Amino acid sequence: MKVIAVYHNKGGVGKTTTVVNLAAAIRKRGKRVLIVDLDSQANTTFATGLIQFDDEVFDDIKDSNILHVLQSEEFYTIEEIARQSQFNNPELDVVPSHIDLMQYENELNQLDYSRLILIDKLEDVKDNYDVVLIDTPPSLNLYARIALIAADYLIIPSDLKPFANQGLVNVKEFIKKIDGFRRQIRKESLEILGVLACKISTNSRFIQSTLKKRLESLQNRYGLKVMETVIYDRDDLAKCAEKSREIDGIERVEPQSILDFKPDSMAAREFELLAIEVLRKIGMEE
Ligand SMILES: Nc1ncnc2c1ncn2[C@@H]1O[C@H](COP(=O)(O)OP(=O)(O)OP(=O)(O)O)[C@@H](O)[C@H]1O
Ligand SMILES: [Mg+2]
Repeated sequence: MKVIAVYHNKGGVGKTTTVVNLAAAIRKRGKRVLIVDLDSQANTTFATGLIQFDDEVFDDIKDSNILHVLQSEEFYTIEEIARQSQFNNPELDVVPSHIDLMQYENELNQLDYSRLILIDKLEDVKDNYDVVLIDTPPSLNLYARIALIAADYLIIPSDLKPFANQGLVNVKEFIKKIDGFRRQIRKESLEILGVLACKISTNSRFIQSTLKKRLESLQNRYGLKVMETVIYDRDDLAKCAEKSREIDGIERVEPQSILDFKPDSMAAREFELLAIEVLRKIGMEE
């Protein structure tokens, strides 16, 4: 089982979109996939259809989410908390997040084991999954730290715009600290699979001149590898996550992975290519 965190401290760069659609594409290649949502915004939890927007009454996720996994050493295994999501066919498992995560960050910070518990609990399910994808908050907080400590690999989505690029300095600094902690617990350094260009303009002039320069500067200026696959700005990616349907006059959100929503789209193809690249780089496919 390989654990991949998807992280950038800058918001809105495509982390969640990458996690859910890459998970779907890897699942379609026959791998058993688990998604862990470590962001209190719970966007991945929404995007995989585990919650309805007006679902306060039926909000049973409040009593059973990633927070419980992190708070308890003995109870709340991943097997117990993970739910099957229908957003993709074949379905895959998701450990949901909840807004409560925000409120409990300080309390969790006091617990010595909070940085390590996810490693142990993932170890317990290592025979159930081939790939685990972790979505993270746009922050340098405890949850981001927990994700990067538990992961074997890191993907850094970026829209390559100036703010995101400046943020890469923080990301690198953060990884350095994480690696320091990993050394103390005798865990290998985090392997950076690369920066993943996301939400990239499809304007052909931009692709031919600006994009190329920006990708090169990532390697030269920040010393970061770049993923070969590029995820372009495609409306379908926003639409598939927001899909809904009216049943008996009540609107239900029914998000779908891009691969189910529009299998023949360019966006679906790009995520298939990304899945192939990632599986090759983590040694799970030729
Ligand atoms: N390649 C894309 N093409 C078009 N829209 C996209 C693309 N990637 C993401 N989006 C849209 O941009 C917005 C932000 O994307 P997303 O939620 O994936 O970013 P994020 O990095 O997870 O944000 P946050 O930091 O808030 O968690 C969403 O509305 C999403 O639908
Ligand atoms: Mg997100």
